[in-house]
Amino acid sequence: MIEKLADIKSKALDELSSLADFNELEVWRVRYLGKKSELTQILRGVASLSQEQRKTVGASANELRSNLEVLYSENKDALKEQAFQDVETTAKGYKDISLPGRPIPLGRLHPITQTVNEICGIFVALGFQVVEGPEVEWDYYNFEALNIPPDHPARDMWDTLWIDTESGQRPMLLRTHTSPMQIRVMEQTQPPVRVVVPGKVYRYEATDATHESMFYQLEGLAVDEYITFADLKGTLYEFAKRLFGKERRVRFRCDYFPFVEPGVEMAIDCFICGGKGCRLCSGTGWIEILGAGMVHPDVLRRVNYDPEVYTGFAFGLGLERIHMLRYGIEDIRLFYSNDLRFLRQF
Ligand code: DAH
Repeated sequence: MIEKLADIKSKALDELSSLADFNELEVWRVRYLGKKSELTQILRGVASLSQEQRKTVGASANELRSNLEVLYSENKDALKEQAFQDVETTAKGYKDISLPGRPIPLGRLHPITQTVNEICGIFVALGFQVVEGPEVEWDYYNFEALNIPPDHPARDMWDTLWIDTESGQRPMLLRTHTSPMQIRVMEQTQPPVRVVVPGKVYRYEATDATHESMFYQLEGLAVDEYITFADLKGTLYEFAKRLFGKERRVRFRCDYFPFVEPGVEMAIDCFICGGKGCRLCSGTGWIEILGAGMVHPDVLRRVNYDPEVYTGFAFGLGLERIHMLRYGIEDIRLFYSNDLRFLRQF
């Protein structure tokens, strides 16, 4: 009888290890623990055994039953879990290895970052170095050192966001243009200087389709012996052609900026209508793209450059405007409203 039990046990364990699914486990349960199973029969027959056999066989049979019951419930849980996972990965009971992987969403550079990189690339190719500077700036660099003293009417050209400072401290602001970096660069280096400075600038301004309170500019500065207005024109003409196409023409007209003399604005001929006049160029045939000029001698003097020895040119342009012109975008606010449908186009 004891041998019989050992036999049942080994067969049960054997079969258990090769069960494939829940249904087979049920068959196994009926076979080894069901009412008609050998083990149940033996347990029922225990009462009719001799007293001695009753003890040993009864104990072994009961132990075997509880072992098998534990095994049954353990296997049931494992198979359930397995079935659950299979449903997740297969709809019809097989694994579809041809399914494409889940796409990893790729990010990209913001359109203005792309424009910064492209324009810096052009100037690097022309021999300029790229530097960056602080967005929180002293009044001195943003205005005074650039020939714009306190109460000078030219301050009206830049609506300024001021930073609260302790009384007695020097006035501080969010830079309204990248021009303060002209001063910082010249303070730190001796000529020859050839730098471009991309970066964010801030204006205290109502936003509309062409104005944002934060936008990007790119400043340029070249100072050396014998730099003339011809260098300014040649460099900026080359830049315009590399960015807007070989066939571009440029126009320089007088303009006023306190830190340059003479000051100019540069326009390119309209690349949509070729100069005939259209909506983009407001019928004029020309599109203004930047301000520039020969560095004012007082600015040079302030950084201890001798204006009798050194001359230079500077320029500044708004980068959103450049991007808008090139891609026909009509509202500057699109750049900073975090709408991926817009941003993903570039
Ligand atoms: N800083 C000027 C502005 O924000 C742009 C500018 C004009 C920069 C002439 C220059 C320059 O360097 O020479 O309006």
